[in-house]
Amino acid sequence: MSDERRKLIAGNWKMNGLVDTSVMEIKDLAARASKIDTPACDILICPPATLLREMARISLDSPVQIGGQDCHPNEKGAHTGDISAEMVKDAGGKFCIVGHSERRADHGESNETVRAKAEAAHRTGLIAIVCVGETLEERDAGKTLDVITDQVRNSLPAAATAANTVIAYEPVWAIGTGKTPTADDVKAVHAHIRKDLAGLMNDSGRVRLLYGGSVKGSNAAELMAVENVDGALVGGASLKAEDFWPIVNTCI
Ligand code: 13P
Repeated sequence: MSDERRKLIAGNWKMNGLVDTSVMEIKDLAARASKIDTPACDILICPPATLLREMARISLDSPVQIGGQDCHPNEKGAHTGDISAEMVKDAGGKFCIVGHSERRADHGESNETVRAKAEAAHRTGLIAIVCVGETLEERDAGKTLDVITDQVRNSLPAAATAANTVIAYEPVWAIGTGKTPTADDVKAVHAHIRKDLAGLMNDSGRVRLLYGGSVKGSNAAELMAVENVDGALVGGASLKAEDFWPIVNTCI
């Protein structure tokens, strides 16, 4: 079976975006993407929950897909402030990020919680983007690969496949800092994840591995060319179509 992997350029808007400016940006992005005959990569925007439905409606006939930033493990119930994977899907989402380091840190999410959320995404037919990444302290202590191994092994559902799961490697110290690992460092971590996945999944060679952390137009081409890097998860530079497009353009 071929291990060819279609690249995925995903934007994570985090807690940013009100209706008026967001409508403008998603229209701009959808218009740019629609001009490409057959885009060679998947393009995804994960807006805050309040904008999911509107962004999905606007991008419906374009190559731009929409996803959630998080979901609760349960389908429904007494969980004030949470949204379920079913709700993300109902709003037009196709993907759902789970286990982002900001949720692991701000909400104390464990690998087990992240796995339950990924299972919820799978239950409803969403593709889970499972995030992993070491802190600066862990990196300085030489523990990067151990941390990544632990997160990958314990955050992935047993039923994860290349079709329902994407893994995003986001070193915590590279998020929003303008710092990025060297291409060699990214290559080493991605190779490690790929190798580790072989013991966990039958189709591990086809799982897409994204890099995230201070990706921007000026460094995207170099990062996207690294072996086993199958796309990007972009924060700040995904908020405006004019900043995001050059990143998409490296793969299109
Ligand atoms: P930045 O691109 O702003 O560093 O954020 C990366 C990220 O956390 C995407 O999920």
